Amino acid sequence: MSTILVTGGTGTLGRQVVPLVQAAGWDVRVLSRHTHDRGDGVEYLAVDLLRADGLDAAVDGVDVVLHLAGGPKGDEVGTRNLVQAAERAGVKHLVHISVTAVDKLPFTYFKSKLGAEEAVRGSSVPWTVVRVAQFHDFAWKTAQAIAKLPVMPMPSGVRLQPVDARDVAERLAELALGEPAGLVPDLVGPKVYSMAELARDYLNATGKHRLSLPIRVPGKAGKIYRADGNLTLRGADVGTRTWEDYVAERTSAVRQAG
Ligand SMILES: NC(=O)c1ccc[n+]([C@@H]2O[C@H](COP(=O)([O-])OP(=O)(O)OC[C@H]3O[C@@H](n4cnc5c(N)ncnc54)[C@H](OP(=O)(O)O)[C@@H]3O)[C@@H](O)[C@H]2O)c1
Repeated sequence: MSTILVTGGTGTLGRQVVPLVQAAGWDVRVLSRHTHDRGDGVEYLAVDLLRADGLDAAVDGVDVVLHLAGGPKGDEVGTRNLVQAAERAGVKHLVHISVTAVDKLPFTYFKSKLGAEEAVRGSSVPWTVVRVAQFHDFAWKTAQAIAKLPVMPMPSGVRLQPVDARDVAERLAELALGEPAGLVPDLVGPKVYSMAELARDYLNATGKHRLSLPIRVPGKAGKIYRADGNLTLRGADVGTRTWEDYVAERTSAVRQAG
């Protein structure tokens, strides 16, 4: 039986990918900073990728690494540590999730994700990288965060192609179970929405009312957003589940919770 190590297998995406690779008959190890005992046949290992203690043992005997772990800071460091351990262990395939427009937007997070992507693409381990648009969960949480303010700051000219984490999970499982493929087409959601539209749908779903204040995004990032330079409008793989589907599910969950 082949063994796969899923880094970040306890996260929003990871939790949806793990059952898919397990169902394909693989032995699954999950790496995150915390241990778990869920009785689900998965081996959970506590390793901080930024410190790398225990990383060699985590990749020992692993055929495929599916690298989903990530945080607000330091992904380039953690990914470099992972790549070096995978090279030492003779891993046969390293699959990495990156972010759409990673080489365009001048934000610290994107620079860090670009460094992570470069570590994978420069590795001697055969690799696959897919750049993915923002998840529906991310759009929802962003709207939730700005709706905490009495007036919602609304970046004008910013449009997103949110994609469902379940579609992403299915694509990642397919890539991990396949052959190394290099940089594959971006994965985006089926439609493009302005931030204002996403926030409006969030407010309607949760029964909240807020005024919003349009904010012009300054500098290079603003120019890129206003030109839709962050979007992948051609040549992308497209998820099947829409933002409207996701909002309807969240709305029914909100209603059931009372
Ligand atoms: N969310 C989006 O919209 C989006 C879009 C495109 C790409 N992505 C990428 O997709 C990946 C998964 O995103 P997600 O939304 O599922 O993230 P998430 O819910 O925040 O989960 C992150 C996972 O990584 C683990 N982790 C974080 N820092 C770690 C470290 N230093 N060492 C080891 N494990 C660590 C976390 O577990 P512990 O906290 O227990 O360590 C958790 O399992 C990330 O690489 C992200 O950049 C996300």
